Amino acid sequence: SSISPFIFVIFGGDGNLSKKKLIPALYTLFKLQGLNEKSIILFHSLNPLEKIEMNNFIKNSLESFGTLQEEQYPLDRFLNKFINFSGDFNSPENFTHLNNLLCNIQDTLKEKWQIIFYLSIPPEFILPCLKIIEKIKYCENNEDKKLVIEKPFGNNLASAKFLNKELSKFFSEKEIYRIDHYLGKETVQNILFFRFGNSIFEPLWSREYVDHVEITISETIGIEKRGLFYEKNGILKDIIQNHALQLLALVAMEYPPNFQSDSIRDEKIKVFKSIKRFLTPEQIDENIILGQYDSGIVQGERVLSYREEENVESHSNTPTFFGGKFEIESWRWSGVPFYIRAGKRLKKKVTEIAIFFKNPPLNLFGKSCSQIAPNKIIFSIQPEEKIEIFVNMKYPGDKNYPHPIKLTFDYSSLENRLNLTAYERLILDIFKGDQSLFARQDGIELMWDIIDPLVSHFSNKFLDFPNYSSGTWGPKQRWNLYED
Ligand code: BG6
Repeated sequence: SSISPFIFVIFGGDGNLSKKKLIPALYTLFKLQGLNEKSIILFHSLNPLEKIEMNNFIKNSLESFGTLQEEQYPLDRFLNKFINFSGDFNSPENFTHLNNLLCNIQDTLKEKWQIIFYLSIPPEFILPCLKIIEKIKYCENNEDKKLVIEKPFGNNLASAKFLNKELSKFFSEKEIYRIDHYLGKETVQNILFFRFGNSIFEPLWSREYVDHVEITISETIGIEKRGLFYEKNGILKDIIQNHALQLLALVAMEYPPNFQSDSIRDEKIKVFKSIKRFLTPEQIDENIILGQYDSGIVQGERVLSYREEENVESHSNTPTFFGGKFEIESWRWSGVPFYIRAGKRLKKKVTEIAIFFKNPPLNLFGKSCSQIAPNKIIFSIQPEEKIEIFVNMKYPGDKNYPHPIKLTFDYSSLENRLNLTAYERLILDIFKGDQSLFARQDGIELMWDIIDPLVSHFSNKFLDFPNYSSGTWGPKQRWNLYED
């Protein structure tokens, strides 16, 4: 394998993210990508766990969320890579065990391996955890140390800047991997290949031909058991500040000079800078709508309202829906609306980006042309992965009007594809040291610069929540977005 052996430290190993994503991803990578078998995974838990308990946790995680295939890669072989340790972040002395573990590892190895610290922990533990990492002797003179940190990165612009400053005391920008798992999704990666790997689309990709763009991140699930997290974040910080703006940047960015991570990220930064800021409270109210779900029926099942969820205030004003109209003040996009719609407990799970083109300039087909369907390109990210181009054709028969059809590229039709989930792809990139699919400090700060004014505007306002029933498309919006 081209990837050198590693020590992968999961802080919060017994948490939700680790169970649902990290452990299944690591297993798949060992199974499919043939990672170096000597590698070691250090599994941290807040409270002490017996080894057998950890093993059960891992087994459980693979059975529920992974692709356990004993004949291809035996569970025992995977479990053997794990060593557990525990510690409460408020008592750093508890982490001497971690230090000792690493010293022992170092004694048996002749060289220092790359060490990856994955912070799979609530935001309030990040700084205390950093203090612990700084004291780890294994890191001294280790040129190959990496830090992985989950979104939301900070809680606003000021805290993100502070966090970036703290991180930079011990890690260089090249060593910091800020995860936004949307960037690891196949169809999301395909946006740049589709745009810049063809010559027939890019000439149309501008205000001259594009009428508007719609980005939808609609979920049927509620907040699951994450009331504490969600009350602090809401949809603005959970989805818009990161996933939604990243998608927007990939659609809108210019051609980068090459495919290196910084070149791509530089272009995205320019988009964030060009997103038109709202200057008055009236402008915000005109262009942004928030919502919160009431009880209702989602896919045949009766569900609670947001305010009835566990660990949620009975009069909570936390938004679970966002509808917004943005403009990008650039030569390419001036005047083209970019709509973002995202929410929990909506009618359907669908994540997609739809580019709508302008109508043909003249009406050749008489009256029926007024009903001509607009050309559109849809990147379906979830649940199906596909790219569809909608065009109009004459349908066989005696009718003389254009009939809409779809040209589809469907991932499920590909044979022999290596199907990596977002986390698998991103963790593999961390091992390889490729930062293209990770957010950079300046990008994170600009995204907060866009979101902060919205958060403060709405936190000072009376919001008539709940304002949409679960299982619908959210509160009424001023614009009519496409619903499949
Ligand atoms: C996470 C959010 O980042 O993304 C969750 O914290 C959300 O609230 C999830 O449910 C959606 O991810 P996906 O991959 O299912 O679209």
